[in-house]
Amino acid sequence: MELHYSVMIINFKRSILPLPGDTGRHSMETHMNNPTRHDPYAPVHKGIRAAHMRCLTAIGAIDVESDPAVAALAADLTDHLAMCAAHLAHENAVIHAALQARRPGAAADAEEDHDDHLGSFQELRRLVERLVAAPAGRRGEPVAALYRRFARFVADDLIHMDHEEHDLLRDLQAVFTDAELQEMEGCIVASIPPAEMVLFMDAILGALPPADRDGLLAAMRAAMPQDAYSELMAGIERRRASRQILQNGA
Ligand SMILES: [Fe+2]
Ligand SMILES: [Fe+2]
Repeated sequence: MELHYSVMIINFKRSILPLPGDTGRHSMETHMNNPTRHDPYAPVHKGIRAAHMRCLTAIGAIDVESDPAVAALAADLTDHLAMCAAHLAHENAVIHAALQARRPGAAADAEEDHDDHLGSFQELRRLVERLVAAPAGRRGEPVAALYRRFARFVADDLIHMDHEEHDLLRDLQAVFTDAELQEMEGCIVASIPPAEMVLFMDAILGALPPADRDGLLAAMRAAMPQDAYSELMAGIERRRASRQILQNGA
């Protein structure tokens, strides 16, 4: 099933153009990467950004006295951190390893960010556990600490993804052909197990414009066996249903 995801994603992403950028982290100079070249970051980073914002809002708006809401928030954040950690691991194992081989040092800043992110994941998991362990009536401080720490992580990751989409992408496009970039991306997608793919697709599908989302869904339906497609869609629906209690503020 993973190979079908790979074909689907590569075919879809050939039709996606990256957004023009403004400033990179290491330079105030405005620059834009070549929009005709392959960009392995665009859809997944859109999905991560959207999920970051959704999670941050959910922490801030939670009815902290509701046990079911706290349980739903903890489950959602645990999944979100797992997806972020998987994305980081994919980049380290495939993109950074390949880039470092052809342009030594080019991925150094991004790898430093990734090390910081690993520390953030550990802290955030501990803060989620602390909130879950707190009894009703004593959750105000743990949820406020989680909210602030998650917001700081989101701020760091927004800057990090901007760095990847400008500085790293410029280097990647300089030393790899589009076919090579697509092959790297295909390796990543093929390595993602179905349960993890549910997390990524849930985030990505909710972050795309209607035409892009419909195109991706059509490509998925064409490339995947019917039962695999149905299983993926059902997994996404289950995740969205489990978040209703957060969106309702119940
Ligand atoms: Fe990264
Ligand atoms: Fe990234």
